[in-house]
Amino acid sequence: MISSRRMYLRDRTAPAHDALDKLVGPFDSIESYRWYVSGIAAFRRPLEAELSSVVWSDLSPDYQLQRLGDLLVEDMNDLALIAGTVTTSVAAELVLEELLGTLYVVEGSALGSRILYRRAQALGMTDGHGARHLAVQSRPGPQWQSYLSLLETGTLDMELVALSATRTFQAAEQAFRNAGANALTL
Ligand code: HEM
Repeated sequence: MISSRRMYLRDRTAPAHDALDKLVGPFDSIESYRWYVSGIAAFRRPLEAELSSVVWSDLSPDYQLQRLGDLLVEDMNDLALIAGTVTTSVAAELVLEELLGTLYVVEGSALGSRILYRRAQALGMTDGHGARHLAVQSRPGPQWQSYLSLLETGTLDMELVALSATRTFQAAEQAFRNAGANALTL
């Protein structure tokens, strides 16, 4: 499917993705991989908790969020990282554009995850130790296409969607920056 809204979001968020890509770096050591897992968990677990009240079937018959939070906690345990408790904030009123912008980043991150899984495997991580979430996230499946169908449906203020996606990338960047201290404790 050629999705023009997706291309628009990709263009609008390219600088934010580049910045994150540079910040994450190649994770070519166990230490930097542990930091990656801490960062992605700090980004994703609160978001998944916040989105747990969304009734996905109200939005689309085929789409629901791919949840990786539990696998991330297992990966953190494997890597002797401390997975704190995530407190769920009360869900604010759902604005479709904001939701779609957030989901663009959360679901789109799966597109680069095959590369990340290969890097993790080179460090000895597997689908049963340390890289459980990447194994699942990089598995081919209909997830991204069903998100794109949702993105292409109905009238949307795409400026709002792009702003939300950019804010979500910035939240990811902040989560990685904050994750440093945790990853240093063995
Ligand atoms: C070093 C770390 C990363 C690398 C090397 C990387 C690499 C890539 C690559 C190669 C793609 C395009 C894949 C394709 O079109 O088939 C992609 C897409 C994407 N990535 Fe990343 N990524 C990284 C980290 C992240 C993170 C941490 C996030 C979000 C939290 C993220 C969000 C996205 C999104 C939203 C897209 C979809 C862009 C589109 O519409 O095509 N990436 N990434």
